[in-house]
Amino acid sequence: MRKVDQSCGKGLSGLGRASKDPLRREASVGETGTEDLCPGFPAMEKKKWILTVVLALIVAMLPLTFRILESHQVQRLYTGELTDMILGKLGGWASSNHDLSTDKALASKFIAPNLTACHPSYGRPDLLVHCCPPGFESPVPFVDFQFPDPQSPKRVRRPVQLVDENYIAKYNKALSIMKSLPYDDPRSFARQANLHCLFCTGAYDQQNSNTPLSIHRTWLFFPWHRMMIYFHERIIGSLIGDDTFAFPVWTWDIPEGMVMPDIYANMNLSFFHKVRDFSHFPPRVADLNYFEETNLSPQEQLDTNLAFMYNQMVSGAKKTELFMGCTYKANEGYCNSPGTVESAPHNTLHTWVGSNLEPGREDMGKFYSAARDPIFYAHHSNIDRLWEVWREIHKHELDIKDPDWLNSFFFFYDENLKLVKIKVRDVLDISKLGYSYEEVDRPWLNKRPTPSVPPKVARQILKSKENENQFRLSSDFGPHGRALDASLTVKVNRSKNHLTKREKGEEEVIVVHGIEVKGDAYAKFDVYVNMVDQTIISPKSREFAGTFAHIPGGGEMMKRKIDLKLGVSELLEDLEAMEDESIWVTLLPRTASCSSVTIEGVQIKYIK
Ligand code: C2O
Repeated sequence: MRKVDQSCGKGLSGLGRASKDPLRREASVGETGTEDLCPGFPAMEKKKWILTVVLALIVAMLPLTFRILESHQVQRLYTGELTDMILGKLGGWASSNHDLSTDKALASKFIAPNLTACHPSYGRPDLLVHCCPPGFESPVPFVDFQFPDPQSPKRVRRPVQLVDENYIAKYNKALSIMKSLPYDDPRSFARQANLHCLFCTGAYDQQNSNTPLSIHRTWLFFPWHRMMIYFHERIIGSLIGDDTFAFPVWTWDIPEGMVMPDIYANMNLSFFHKVRDFSHFPPRVADLNYFEETNLSPQEQLDTNLAFMYNQMVSGAKKTELFMGCTYKANEGYCNSPGTVESAPHNTLHTWVGSNLEPGREDMGKFYSAARDPIFYAHHSNIDRLWEVWREIHKHELDIKDPDWLNSFFFFYDENLKLVKIKVRDVLDISKLGYSYEEVDRPWLNKRPTPSVPPKVARQILKSKENENQFRLSSDFGPHGRALDASLTVKVNRSKNHLTKREKGEEEVIVVHGIEVKGDAYAKFDVYVNMVDQTIISPKSREFAGTFAHIPGGGEMMKRKIDLKLGVSELLEDLEAMEDESIWVTLLPRTASCSSVTIEGVQIKYIK
């Protein structure tokens, strides 16, 4: 892993190495300009001002250069990044007290794909897939993202159960057109679907590194999918000349939306897709915490779903990272820890929709194939809506402010066939993006679960079980982790000053760390706290802390160990466990595939 701080003489080696790459040749001006910017170089202080002036001149010249390049309204890849980089350095100097050896600002850590470094990737451990767009080897002209004209009509995304015949006919027609476009056309349905394959299986390397870029199980999950469906929606609209077209939303979190929407199950419409699990067609109520078929009555399933939503949206998601997923930055290795809603209902419903006859429950059940199913877009509209709901619940106070997140960027083709560079910061205000969601109820907000057994009784039973040595202690996971071939209960110690931490507003978090999934199949285990009787619990019980619902990819991605983080402060309060020195955490395997899942340990941490 390259650290700019330590790469003296070979400063910005990523750029240097990449200069053989046709796409990166554009950055050659910057290479000579930045090669000398070696932190800690002798006499740096004197040279710095000279360099500042030179760089300032370069920056001043860049708009002019762009204007020349933009004679066709285009830029070339990397000119924009070059500006960012130089500005980053100048900003760093201005604010760093001239202490360059510790100047973190020198290292921009935004994530971005290198479009010319695309390669086959693994859709499943046993399946190499080729999702790269035609001609990716050559640099492609691009434009910077611009917000749609504020005067243009708003696109209002409505719950799919509320849309009328007229709307269905329009969308149906547009989707048929999209499906008939040739593969060469980036607006074609197949190319749109492959966008997901590209970014979710690690087909692109990151800029300035050879590390594959993958947006799942990171803080890029929400913004990347927002971008993808934003462009898809506008393309759909433009194919039928309708600038008000907005997605239907599969609102699976409210009772009215908890079945597969009819239009997706109607064989006469282009939304129908045959690679699905037909036993899950209407009127089957969706299982938001799906692992296998249950025999719950529709009403029981519905109640369980609402309690589950409460956990995923409210009690389990009280800190940014718990909802958004882990901090993912360039040159810091990978991060691999999903947010609550990404694990479930997102992953669980992908799996629930996918076909039971396919090895990876394709198409929805694997990321390389998921976006081939039109329901993907209705599913992700709801994911996108719930992101807004969560932000609203927290009055936008938990929004990420880290510039590396804000400046991470991607490329998408728009409805006019232009390649657009779009940053995370561009997609944080949906009204500026020209769309909104029709107001939807939040019935799960008041579905706070209750304990399945009175907490005092539970504690006594747990203590006697402990005396009979029925539990493992948190330390005996062994150097290679422990396989989750059977249910596992561990006693986990809490911090001595957990009460003070709580007063300071810190969230208590169960971390199941170093999770490795070796198999190919969907793997799911649930996590319970102070659970006494496994036959009477469900997400409706307060003991339920959350779930690990994992869709394995393949190749590089498989080697990355995962951390599962579950916020439990409210849960511990409801279980009257706030004063306790330790808690019992049970990992309950839900799929047979858990026998090829290993875990390195369970701990309690605190998030400020
Ligand atoms: Cu990128 Cu629903 O997944």
